[in-house]
Amino acid sequence: MQILLIGGNGTIGKTVAEKLRQKHEVIIAGRSNGDVIVDIEDVHTIHTAYKKYPDLDAVVCIAGEARWAPLTEMTNEDFYIGIRSKLMGQVNLVRLGLQYLKQGGSFTLTTGVLADDPVDKTTSAAMVNGALHSFVKAAALEIDQDRRINVVAAGLVEDAAEKYEDYFPGHNPVPMDKVVNGYLKSILGKVNGQIIRVLE
Ligand SMILES: NC(=O)c1ccc[n+]([C@@H]2O[C@H](COP(=O)([O-])OP(=O)(O)OC[C@H]3O[C@@H](n4cnc5c(N)ncnc54)[C@H](OP(=O)(O)O)[C@@H]3O)[C@@H](O)[C@H]2O)c1
Repeated sequence: MQILLIGGNGTIGKTVAEKLRQKHEVIIAGRSNGDVIVDIEDVHTIHTAYKKYPDLDAVVCIAGEARWAPLTEMTNEDFYIGIRSKLMGQVNLVRLGLQYLKQGGSFTLTTGVLADDPVDKTTSAAMVNGALHSFVKAAALEIDQDRRINVVAAGLVEDAAEKYEDYFPGHNPVPMDKVVNGYLKSILGKVNGQIIRVLE
């Protein structure tokens, strides 16, 4: 398979890339480095990547940001950070990718535990994750040519636990091999329109 992995140099992305590389061709994309430069907020860079790789079997996004702050301090613009990046960035990857993704191919997006189990200061991140879950369920109804779309919603991952544990009191870090398996289920399996929760 030829797989485009946006965010493939990140904490989760690099572990998923390592596993996929054992049997597949993995093209890494990111804003600062990779095989192709993509900022999911910029549709021109998305188009450029798809034109460079027009025969993809899978598009995987493990990237996207949102602002964390108390609700009372969140401005309109703060909310749009998550809407432009994690939400519309991933929606546009799918919207534009439909012209290029091969028959039988798949999209795999990323949200996280906050959609179902938010913590303090995450009104934006939780909202965006929830919106993506609804998007995936609706998009799966329309995507044709045996192509599929799923989203992986992991809990706080083991490799980020030290950095973020104070923000997730009482959350059990999820082992990286289980997180990777969530992505493999979507990319290599047959599931469609699923929210693949990997929470423990
Ligand atoms: N860490 C966790 O415990 C956890 C759990 C569940 C879900 N998630 C979600 O999973 C995603 C990745 O998390 P992570 O911890 O692996 O993050 P990370 O370590 O910060 O890595 C993010 C990667 O995505 C790339 N990226 C960021 N913004 C981008 C953009 N606009 N366009 C293209 N590439 C972009 C970054 O590279 P460049 O800077 O070069 O672009 C980087 O390689 C996030 O959406 C996060 O909310 C994380």
